[in-house]
Amino acid sequence: MDYETKVLKIDRDNWDKSVLEEAAGLIAAGELVAFPTETVYGLGGNALNPDASKKIYAAKGRPSDNPLIVHIADAKDIYKVGRDIPQYAEVLMDKFWPGPLTIIVKRADIIPTTTTGGLDTVAVRLPSDEIARELIRQSGTFIAAPSANASGRPSTTRAEHCVEDLSGKIPLIIDGGPVTIGLESTIVDLTGDEPMILRPGYITFEMLSEVLEGVTYDPVVVSTSKPENMVAKAPGMKYRHYAPKGELVIYSGAADKVSSRINQEINDKKAQGYKVAVLATDETKDSYQADYIVSLGSRESVDDLARHLFEVLRDFDKLGAQYIYGESFETDGFGQAIMNRLIKACGYNIINV
Ligand code: TXA
Ligand code: MG
Repeated sequence: MDYETKVLKIDRDNWDKSVLEEAAGLIAAGELVAFPTETVYGLGGNALNPDASKKIYAAKGRPSDNPLIVHIADAKDIYKVGRDIPQYAEVLMDKFWPGPLTIIVKRADIIPTTTTGGLDTVAVRLPSDEIARELIRQSGTFIAAPSANASGRPSTTRAEHCVEDLSGKIPLIIDGGPVTIGLESTIVDLTGDEPMILRPGYITFEMLSEVLEGVTYDPVVVSTSKPENMVAKAPGMKYRHYAPKGELVIYSGAADKVSSRINQEINDKKAQGYKVAVLATDETKDSYQADYIVSLGSRESVDDLARHLFEVLRDFDKLGAQYIYGESFETDGFGQAIMNRLIKACGYNIINV
């Protein structure tokens, strides 16, 4: 189906109510709308309508065994979309909702299995973004929403990225400006013996461990080498993701060794006539002689690095970079989420120097 995709802007200081009315009407009618959240833009459809979920998979070109997150506007609604919810889930809801934490519980019957990729569990998230929550409220349902990117590409952190990936495939994109966090929500699975992090995000292992005992990571998401004989518990984590068109290699080790090794690679590839780019930081960007040097920001601010990552990965494609060399980052706190996305983007092409 081909759409004339509309992009409607919402000024966060002065809301135009008609935009949300139109968007909510589309969701209620089984259509899709891209909308901002605090993490990344979402591609929303009615979570209770199997046809809407099918449209989401089609618009993204996403495999239908990869479940969608159900977005709610009121914490109590987790008891409507889920069942057998452990008591300690309340601790997480009180502490981190609304916000960038997705909780996996058993699926209630009202959620069709098309939404959950055939699973008997459901991922539930209460976003803090006001536009997102108002859209859920006004549509009178719950909103199934994966990140609003074409399957395999970096998630979208601005409405312009949604236009790049979804133009002609959906009727409406709400432009709420650039997102504040820039990486997708932390996912924690509460259906096993212990709370397990299936995807690292802004709500860190350390923050979760402060309020819950026994939090673990799915070993696959923190592995820096390609996991053999291990399958990620979040189906989406098994797919190649975020990869730029050029070949991306990440170097880890002491900072000076990393920059000199990257410069050596740049020289080799430039001599062969390739367009070479570097994924750098403010601290190092002047030490490279590549065709394109893109900084994520200062290492002093992990939040800045995270917020820029997906946009920078998209930029490499626009620049036509054939080889991209990147630095690596500390894996404590929010850094774990940055490295998780980078490692996926480079397909475990990470070299210790
Ligand atoms: O920040 C976010 O979470 C964004 C915004 C739009 O809310 N959404 C998002 O959705 O990142 P998506 O579909 O791109 O990523 C959802 C991830 C996938 O890796 C999927 O496999 C996993 O969550 N997931 C969803 N339901 C699951 C379930 N029942 N069990 C295990 N993993 C699940
Ligand atoms: Mg995604």
